[in-house]
Amino acid sequence: MARLKIGVLISGRGSNLQALIDACAAPDFPAEIALVLSNKADAFGLERAAKAGVPGAVVSHRDFPGDKQAFEQAMDAKLREAGVELVCLAGFMRLLSPWFVEQWRDRLINIHPSLLPSFKGLDTHERALAAGVRFHGCTVHYVRPEMDEGPIIVQAAVPVLPSDDAHALGDRVLDSEHRIYPQAVRLIAEGRARVEGDVVVIDGAVPTQPSVINPPA
Ligand code: GAR
Repeated sequence: MARLKIGVLISGRGSNLQALIDACAAPDFPAEIALVLSNKADAFGLERAAKAGVPGAVVSHRDFPGDKQAFEQAMDAKLREAGVELVCLAGFMRLLSPWFVEQWRDRLINIHPSLLPSFKGLDTHERALAAGVRFHGCTVHYVRPEMDEGPIIVQAAVPVLPSDDAHALGDRVLDSEHRIYPQAVRLIAEGRARVEGDVVVIDGAVPTQPSVINPPA
């Protein structure tokens, strides 16, 4: 079966990119990375791509001062040239315009370090601690023009522990990110994640799980 060609957009470290690279290395994974695109030339994720033999490219927003559409058109052209069918934002820190989002409607996904719709935006771990929530987590969702909105594909919840600072909590969430991003890509590549209105319907059997209580009794 043909593997779904994905394009991964990054701005930095690229640990989620690495999780996707590792997943795609398995012969039975239904997707492959056709292109890694960074808006920063010094993004460490580009080194990860090179090491894995995955094509990488830079389209810098700085080359298009005051012209977001030209920047996004340049990215769009590179993605199409590479035959990309699904765009995965993985720590891509530029807000995309409605134009770009519409070009890739329902073929553009993002990972966000919170249980959306809670804690959109930045500093999610600090804000989760300040709010005193007992569970925090991460979300993979289809992208809509409004920041951190769109139909949810997969979420992982992690407990918030009394000893947590933002760093410890962020590390626990990041571990989960690395598990759910490949899982979401797999669901899409297998044609099991369908957008219906504002939600994603998962086709096929999904096992139930017992509820988790934090702090445990
Ligand atoms: C990840 O935690 C990702 O969820 C977050 O940036 C980090 C990138 O790390 N994304 C956002 O905050 C987007 N709003 P990585 O470069 O190691 O994958």
